[in-house]
Amino acid sequence: MSPSKFARGRKKLAATVASLLNPLRAARYAAAAALLCAATAAPAWSFPWSIDMYRGPALQPLEVSPRVMPPGTLPVDTGEPPMSLEQMTVRMHNTLQPTPENLAHGEKLYYDNCAPCHGDSGTGNGTVAHLLHYPPYNLMNSVARELPDGFIYGYIRDGGTHMPAYYDAMNSDERWDVVMYVRQLQKKPAPPVWVGMPIVR
Ligand code: HEC
Repeated sequence: MSPSKFARGRKKLAATVASLLNPLRAARYAAAAALLCAATAAPAWSFPWSIDMYRGPALQPLEVSPRVMPPGTLPVDTGEPPMSLEQMTVRMHNTLQPTPENLAHGEKLYYDNCAPCHGDSGTGNGTVAHLLHYPPYNLMNSVARELPDGFIYGYIRDGGTHMPAYYDAMNSDERWDVVMYVRQLQKKPAPPVWVGMPIVR
């Protein structure tokens, strides 16, 4: 390096140092550094702050898939092997007695679960019937009176195309209590036929 080039280099360095020491410039550098720190702050301070604690390291709901039962698994209490409605119609027989307690229990279950659709009298005029796309069946007509116990039992367990299933909401004894209560309702003289409300769609 020639002496003149060396001198020029030294001059340049001196000028850079002087500019860095200039108080105004120094303040600007500090501000820029502070901004950089703010932009790269830890995600815990990120917006919106209200859900910082919500997104914790804890396991989130359904993050891990729920346990899937191996095929063919049977419940250990009051469970029944999988059966079609036809099989239940033929094979399922009531072993309970229509005692006042069982009928009272069946009545309560009927009012809580079935009456909103099928109506208190069973004719299909329940309080929510007008909201349904498909009207609930009349359980008091001659067809329903002839249905075998096992069919009603199976219908409660598995539901229909439009009717919900109660396989997980009632156990076997509870379903039979409801069947006995429906049978008791059907012994009464047929209530006037309900012609139906306009269906709301
Ligand atoms: C959400 C309304 C709804 C509820 C609740 C409901 N059902 Fe039904 N049910 C229906 C509809 C609709 C049908 C017509 C067939 C279908 O959907 O498969 C039906 C059909 C039936 C049938 C078949 C009747 C036939 O002549 O074939 C039986 C029996 C029956 N329900 C009994 C019950 C009992 C007992 C309960 C209570 C445990 C109940 N249902 C609860 C809507 C309901």
